[in-house]
Amino acid sequence: MNTEDHEAAVALGQALPEYFNDQGIAEMTDEIPQEDGALAEVDGKLVGFVTWAIHDGIGRIGWIAVSGAHHRRGIGRRLVAAAEDDLSAAGIDVLEVDTLGESIDYEPYERTRAFYRSVGFQSLKSVMLDNPGMPEMLTLQKRIGAAD
Ligand SMILES: CC(C)(COP(=O)(O)OP(=O)(O)OC[C@H]1O[C@@H](n2cnc3c(N)ncnc32)[C@H](O)[C@@H]1OP(=O)(O)O)[C@@H](O)C(=O)NCCC(=O)NCCS
Repeated sequence: MNTEDHEAAVALGQALPEYFNDQGIAEMTDEIPQEDGALAEVDGKLVGFVTWAIHDGIGRIGWIAVSGAHHRRGIGRRLVAAAEDDLSAAGIDVLEVDTLGESIDYEPYERTRAFYRSVGFQSLKSVMLDNPGMPEMLTLQKRIGAAD
């Protein structure tokens, strides 16, 4: 992803305000350029992206989003697969992602958790945070690569 892609990815995130508040957009803007990434395009237009990084030998999804008009077409699944392929090739066999926890009654993230579970993630741990945007942070984990 080049600088133009980073800006387009943030714009895609801004178009999903149910999922990304101002703080999330600010963090996304800072973090996306530091991570590896993959894009999904339809007719040359960005419709989805994922970013990832390796921390302490574990792959972590930083940010993932698909434009609302393109949800439920298998794009998110393919983006996660792209991250897994890259990480597996680097010898990484565990992938984690943080998201809003189950105790927070907020329907959009029920869909997000359903997505992660559908592509093979399982709950690892959950912590309560003093953060109105993320009062409970759930970490999900998936084994990837040969061990999958
Ligand atoms: C989460 C997100 C990236 C998923 O992308 P997507 O392209 O819509 O997902 P896919 O079409 O690949 O879905 C794969 C599977 O996940 C599950 N799934 C996806 N969306 C779902 C929903 N709304 N409700 C229930 N299950 C869902 C399904 O099992 C689906 O397979 P199926 O359509 O064959 O039943 C997308 O919905 C999104 O951008 N959400 C907003 C941003 C976000 O939540 N990012 C993560 C922040 S932690």
